[in-house]
Amino acid sequence: MSEQKKNFKPESLMMSYGYKPELSEGAIKCPIFQTSTFVFKTAAEGKALFEVAYGLREKKPKEELGLIYSRLNNPDLEVLENRLTLWDEAEDCAVFESGMSAISTVLMEFLKPGDLLLYSSPLYGGTDHFIKHVLPEWGVEVLGFKSGMSTQEIEALLESSNRADKLKLIYVESPANPTNALVDIEGCKQMADKYSSSDKQIYVAVDNTMMGPLWQHPLKFGADLVLYSATKYIGGHSDVIAGACLGNKELMGRVKVLRTFLGNMAGPWTGWLLMRSLETLKPRMELQAKNAQKVVEFLKTHDKVEKIYYLGLLTEKDGEQYKIYQKQCLSPGAMIAFDIKGGEQEAFAFLDNLKLIKLAVSLGSTESLAEHPYTMTHADVASEEKNAMSLTEKMVRLSVGVENADDIIWDIDQALKSI
Ligand SMILES: Cc1ncc(COP(=O)(O)O)c(C=O)c1O
Repeated sequence: MSEQKKNFKPESLMMSYGYKPELSEGAIKCPIFQTSTFVFKTAAEGKALFEVAYGLREKKPKEELGLIYSRLNNPDLEVLENRLTLWDEAEDCAVFESGMSAISTVLMEFLKPGDLLLYSSPLYGGTDHFIKHVLPEWGVEVLGFKSGMSTQEIEALLESSNRADKLKLIYVESPANPTNALVDIEGCKQMADKYSSSDKQIYVAVDNTMMGPLWQHPLKFGADLVLYSATKYIGGHSDVIAGACLGNKELMGRVKVLRTFLGNMAGPWTGWLLMRSLETLKPRMELQAKNAQKVVEFLKTHDKVEKIYYLGLLTEKDGEQYKIYQKQCLSPGAMIAFDIKGGEQEAFAFLDNLKLIKLAVSLGSTESLAEHPYTMTHADVASEEKNAMSLTEKMVRLSVGVENADDIIWDIDQALKSI
C-alpha cells in the first residue's frame, strides 16, 4: 500500500481494503466464496500451509497463509478480518460464528484448571452463564467485581480472596450491558501487569460490543484482546449472528488455532454480509448516537421515567465514572436503559404497547429495539445480584436505531401513556 493510502480513515477503506479485484475477474465487490476447500498448486504447498495453520512452525517473514479449507480460512472472512483490524488498529482479527463463540474460545484458550478469572459484572447474560456455570466445571476459578468499583477496590477484592497468585485473565465488559456502568481498562491493565511475573503474563480482554468499533478502542488503553458480538453494530441489520476477536499477532495466532479445532469459524455468507455492513458502519452508528441523545432529552422530562442509564448523562458529580467516560469513550453511544416508575407490570405494559420500536433482544441494529433485561437477556443472573447492580424489574433497555428521531420519541411517548 502506498504512503498516501495509509492515511485514509477506516470508513474510506471499508469498500476496498484487503480485496484485489484482479483475483476475482475484476468484480468490484468481493464475491461469496461458497466453497469448503481450496485446491493446492502442489503437495509441498499443502504441507507448508498446514505447518503454519496448525502452529507447527512460525510463518516466514512476508509469508502469507494461503487458502486451505473454509474452517481455517476463506477469502470473505480474511478480507473481513483485515477490514475489522482498521477500526481498532489491531494487528490481527479472528471472526467467529457468534459473539459467544469468540468469547468462549478466548476464555478457553487463556484459562486452564486452577487459574483465576477476574471479571466485571454485570455482563451479557450468555457470558455470565459461561463464566459462572461452565468454567467452574473445568476447574477454572472465577471472581466477579462490580462495574463502577475503582481499580483500588477491585485490587482489594482480589487480595481479600487470597487467590491473587492464581490470576490469569481479567475480563471486562465496559460499558456493561445493560446498565452502562464503566470499568477503567487502563487500571485493569496496570493490575494485570502488577500480578504478572516472568513466567506468567496476565491478559486483559474487553467485550467492546456496546461501543462497537467506533466509540471505544480498548487496545489503546492496554487491553490485550477486544471482543465483539458482530451481530450488533458491526452486522447492524438484525440479519446475521457473528463474533470477532482482535489483538496482537501472537495472541491471535493462539485464538485462531483453537478456533480451527473448535470449528467455530464463521461461514462465507456471514463474511460477505458483514463486509456489506461495514461499508455503512460509521454513518449508521453516528445517526444512532444522535437519535439516542434526542430520545434521552425526551425521557429526562417524563414523569413516568424514574432513572436513565446513559453515558451522556454522566457529569463531574459521578466522579470516577465520569473520568473513565471522558478518557475511554468517544461517544455516549446509542444504548439507553431506563427505570419506569413501578415494576415488571409497568415495564411490560410499555413494551407491549410499542408500535414502531420492536420488542426484541439484541442491539446496535438499524431498527430500534426494546427489551426487559431482568426477565430476558439477564434472566439467568441471580435476582440478588441483579438488584445489587440496579438491574431491576422496572428497567427497560433501548437500542436506538436509524429511524426518524421524532417517530421513535412519538412511539415511546404513546407507550408510556398507555401504562
Ligand atoms: C455485550 C454482548 N456481548 C456478547 C454477546 C453475545 O453475542 P452473540 O449473540 O453474537 O453470540 C451479546 C449478545 O447480546 C452482547 O450483548
